[in-house]
Amino acid sequence: MVRAMIERRPVTLITGASAGIGMALARIFAGHGHELMLVARREQQLRELADAIAGRGHRRPHVHSLDLARQQSVEEISASMSRLGIEPNIIVNNAGFGLLGTAVDLSRSEQLAMIDVNVRVLTELSLAFIGALERHRGGILNVASVAAVLPGPGMAVYYATKAYVLSFSEALHWELQPRGIRVTALCPGPVPTEFQARAGFAGGSKPDVLTKTADQVAEAGYRALQRGQRVAVPGLANRLTVTVARFLPRRLLMEAVGRYNGKRAGGRIKRSPS
Ligand SMILES: NC(=O)c1ccc[n+]([C@@H]2O[C@H](COP(=O)([O-])OP(=O)(O)OC[C@H]3O[C@@H](n4cnc5c(N)ncnc54)[C@H](OP(=O)(O)O)[C@@H]3O)[C@@H](O)[C@H]2O)c1
Repeated sequence: MVRAMIERRPVTLITGASAGIGMALARIFAGHGHELMLVARREQQLRELADAIAGRGHRRPHVHSLDLARQQSVEEISASMSRLGIEPNIIVNNAGFGLLGTAVDLSRSEQLAMIDVNVRVLTELSLAFIGALERHRGGILNVASVAAVLPGPGMAVYYATKAYVLSFSEALHWELQPRGIRVTALCPGPVPTEFQARAGFAGGSKPDVLTKTADQVAEAGYRALQRGQRVAVPGLANRLTVTVARFLPRRLLMEAVGRYNGKRAGGRIKRSPS
């Protein structure tokens, strides 16, 4: 049994690899010679990405399409890896989504599913393979957001999930360092991906000084994990935002974020009358 575990090939497990930042991360990890296991719901997109990566002369990634919001999803990933004779040396918890609107107006079940994907599965995957990560002196890259340091009126549950990801990852960084496991929280600002449409942003939001591409963010995340950095915030303007947010009163931040998200919603977000 022990010998079988040692003989498993190490792979980088990336969730949410069918689009956006996850897809960019997959290309970067593959480009640096990592064998990959890609997870998301849309199998076709995963297979096309695997073809493209193989077409560039890299090892063909394994793909596993599944809905991470389902209770048994991590067990299914683990079983599928066992069957393939692989185990993770790096886990990239990237899958996630947000919803724009006031928490009372948005669907309760969708917001709970968001907590499942952004928080529950990220936590479970971070803890499920510690033995393998330790054996390979590997790491965990958890995708949080600049939203992690802000109060989030207009996207309350989403900002709260990212605050959790940042807090959890920083603590895990400290706890797992003695075991030789790196843990990095990646905190991007705005990145044009499918995220905006899924969240219900009003169309036509223009890139601003905070905006970075998925490739830029993925590259920053890859480098930060390699260096064993605790937190990575891609882009100077985003790093400034995070720093300034520490010193501003929460009430002021709340107003600013509420207005920002109101604009992203095309003015649709209204506070309930007291
Ligand atoms: N874009 C931004 O402005 C921004 C800023 C800061 C942080 N982030 C974070 O970056 C991460 C990636 O977002 P993105 O911008 O790349 O968004 P995206 O283009 O919408 O990609 C999201 C990925 O997550 C997967 N996913 C979502 N729900 C899933 C589920 N139930 N089961 C399995 N996979 C699921 C999607 O795959 P399927 O649909 O195929 O399942 C897709 O591959 C997220 O955690 C997001 O919160 C994004």
